[in-house]
Amino acid sequence: MKFSIFLAIGFLCSSSLVFGAPAQFKHQAKNVNCEACHKTNAPVAAAKSKSCKQCHNYNELAAKTSKLNPNPHDSHAGQLRCTLCHKEHSESVVYCKECHKNGDPKFNFKTP
Ligand code: HEC
Ligand code: HEC
Ligand code: HEC
Ligand code: HEC
Repeated sequence: MKFSIFLAIGFLCSSSLVFGAPAQFKHQAKNVNCEACHKTNAPVAAAKSKSCKQCHNYNELAAKTSKLNPNPHDSHAGQLRCTLCHKEHSESVVYCKECHKNGDPKFNFKTP
């Protein structure tokens, strides 16, 4: 019984490693494990932004990206959920473009 649970967890972990995204590699390099984001070792659903904020702070992020205009971490859209832009197991996106659809190059961020 215990052994098969072990196998199931092992399968989940290794299958998630098949995907690839820049943030994922940084997190793995710093030993940020599944549980740090998912609050469980056998995740089945997306992690919540609340867990990101245990390690990352919106004000510090806004300062780090302050040279960008507009600033993705400090705009009229406010403090958005991190996971609207940052994906961990797939390509990240620029959520702003959900509304700013006119192809304006200032929204061509490269989201890590
Ligand atoms: C346990 C702490 C921890 C948690 C939880 C965490 N991170 Fe990180 N994150 C880090 C560390 C450490 C790095 C690597 C920082 C570095 O190398 O400068 C990092 C790197 C990143 C990067 C990469 C930036 C780059 O330069 O490529 C992004 C994006 C990021 N985190 C977003 C998130 C998001 C979104 C979440 C929630 C889903 C999250 N993090 C949860 C600790 C954490
Ligand atoms: C509107 C989209 C968006 C949202 C929402 C967002 N980010 Fe970002 N984030 C970006 C973009 C774009 C960059 C890259 C900026 C650049 O090119 O320097 C970035 C960069 C980062 C970096 C790297 C900063 C650095 O220069 O070292 C981290 C870490 C990060 N974001 C974490 C987060 C976390 C955690 C949240 C939620 C608290 C969040 N982001 C919310 C778009 C977003
Ligand atoms: C840095 C935070 C972070 C870490 C570490 C992390 N995840 Fe995730 N995970 C997320 C986020 C955010 C999502 C939402 C989808 C996405 O961003 O790709 C997600 C989604 C998932 C999902 C649901 C996919 C779906 O169908 O929606 C599974 C399953 C999952 N992760 C498993 C894992 C496993 C297993 C590990 C450890 C090897 C892990 N995750 C590590 C943040 C993280
Ligand atoms: C819910 C829809 C919505 C989202 C999401 C959104 N915006 Fe906007 N934004 C608007 C509207 C509406 C205006 C005012 C009309 C206009 O000028 O396009 C505006 C105006 C702006 C302007 C000033 C006008 C311009 O085009 O220079 C900037 C800069 C801007 N938004 C940046 C952002 C950034 C950065 C994000 C993502 C972090 C974002 N917006 C997300 C709806 C949105």
